[in-house]
Amino acid sequence: MDEVKLWSRGLGEFVPRLPALLNLGTHETLSQSDIDRIVATGSEMSVREAMIQALVEASRGFATTSPNPLVGCVILDREGRFLSKGFHEKFGEGHAEVQALKGLREDQLLGAHLIVTLEPCAHQGKTPSCAKKIAELPLSKVTYGLVDPNPLVAGKGAQIIRDAGIQVEEYPELKQELSEICEAFLWNQRQQKIFVAAKVATTLDGCLALKTGESQWITGEHSRYWAHELRGTYDATLVGVNTVLQDNPSLSIRHPRFEKINRVVVLDSKGRGLQRQQDLKIFSTHDKENLIWVVNKGYSHSYQGQLVEVESTENLEQVLQELWKLGLRSLLVEGGAQILSNFLKHQLVQRLYLFQAPRLLGSLAGQSWTKDLNISSLDGMLALKNLKVAPSADDFLLTGVFNDNGRTAK
Ligand SMILES: NC(=O)c1ccc[n+]([C@@H]2O[C@H](COP(=O)([O-])OP(=O)(O)OC[C@H]3O[C@@H](n4cnc5c(N)ncnc54)[C@H](OP(=O)(O)O)[C@@H]3O)[C@@H](O)[C@H]2O)c1
Repeated sequence: MDEVKLWSRGLGEFVPRLPALLNLGTHETLSQSDIDRIVATGSEMSVREAMIQALVEASRGFATTSPNPLVGCVILDREGRFLSKGFHEKFGEGHAEVQALKGLREDQLLGAHLIVTLEPCAHQGKTPSCAKKIAELPLSKVTYGLVDPNPLVAGKGAQIIRDAGIQVEEYPELKQELSEICEAFLWNQRQQKIFVAAKVATTLDGCLALKTGESQWITGEHSRYWAHELRGTYDATLVGVNTVLQDNPSLSIRHPRFEKINRVVVLDSKGRGLQRQQDLKIFSTHDKENLIWVVNKGYSHSYQGQLVEVESTENLEQVLQELWKLGLRSLLVEGGAQILSNFLKHQLVQRLYLFQAPRLLGSLAGQSWTKDLNISSLDGMLALKNLKVAPSADDFLLTGVFNDNGRTAK
C-alpha cells in the first residue's frame, strides 16, 4: 500500500478522527490552522480557542490513557497570550496540567490562566493531586470544561484551588465536545459499566457481507485505516465466532502512525474456534493474555489463554460484567451481524460508527447488519443523536450516540 498517497488523500493527522473533534471546525470562526499559528507564535488566544486547543491536545492520548480520561490543558500568560500546552499521555503518568506546567518559571505563571478540559483531580492516585499542585502556583484563574464525576474529585478539585484564592470557573460552552472526548470515562464513572461502541462497514443498503459470507472488502482502504485507529481507541475489539471462522481475520492494529498491541474478545458459546487453534490467524497474531475467549461453561477445550466461562454467551450483560472484572473499560464491537444485532437488541451500544460505501448489493444477495433485530413498532425504533458525518475517500462515516444512552427513540 502506498502510505504517502493514502495520507495525502486527506486522512491527515489522526487526532481529529475522534468524534469530539470531527466537525468542530465547521462552526468556528477560526480554523485549526489559525490556532496552530497562535500556538507557534505565542500570540493572544481567547478562552474558547484555548479550550479547543486543549481538546485537540486531549485527543492525542487516545490509545494510551485508559482507564483514565483523555484530558488536555493550555496555559495563557497574564496578558492572555499562549504559554504552553499538555495532555495526559499515559495511564499512571503525568496528568495534562502537570505536562502543560513543565518547564514554566514562577514569573511566567504570575497571573496566568490555566484552561483544562476536565476538573483537576483532588486525590492522590498513581500521581499526586493536580488541584493541590495548582493551588501552590501564583495563577489568577483556572477554567475547567467538565466536573469530574469521580466521587473522589467531583467539585473537590475546584474547591481546593478556590480555597487558595485562585478564581475558578466551569466553562459553559463546548459541552458536547468536552463530554465526547472522555465519554468512555464518564460512562464508566456514572454507570460502573463498560462503554460499548459498535463499528460496521456496509453498502448503502445496509449489507455487511454477501449471504455466502464474503465481505472483503465492502468499504475502501481509507475507511479500513480509520477503523484501525478506532481499534486503538478502545480497550478491546469484540467479534462473534462466525466472523473468526469465515474471514480468518488477524484483528490486530495495522496503522502507519501509531503502534498498539490490542486485546480481542471472541464470543463462542461452544468453543468452535478453540478447536481450530492451529489454523486460525487470530491465535498466531495475539499473545494468549490478549486473546479473551468467552464460552459457555464446559466448552473451554483446554484453551491456555484468557478464558471467560459464563452460563450463556447469549447473556451479554453477564459477558460485559465478566469483561469489566478483567479490567476492560471500553469495547469496539465489530460484528458480524448476529453479534451487532444482539448488542443493539439489548440496548448495550452507546456509540455507533457506520462506514458506508456508495454501493448496493440488494437484500436477496446481501446480509443486513441488523438481520436479527426485530422492532415491530415505529415507537420502538433505536435512534441516534449527536450525529457527525465525515467523508472517508469514496465512502463516508456516520457516528452518533444512541438516544438516552442506548434506549429507544421515545
Ligand atoms: N462488514 C463488516 O463490518 C463486517 C464485520 C464483521 C463481520 N462481517 C461479516 O459478518 C459475517 C458473520 O456474521 P454472522 O452474523 O454470521 O456471525 P457473527 O456475528 O460473527 O458470529 C455469530 C456467532 O457468535 C456466537 N455467539 C456467541 N454469543 C453470541 C451472542 N450473544 N450473540 C450473537 N452471537 C453469539 C454464535 O455462535 P455459537 O452459537 O456457536 O456460539 C453466533 O452464531 C461474516 O461474513 C463476516 O465477513 C462483516
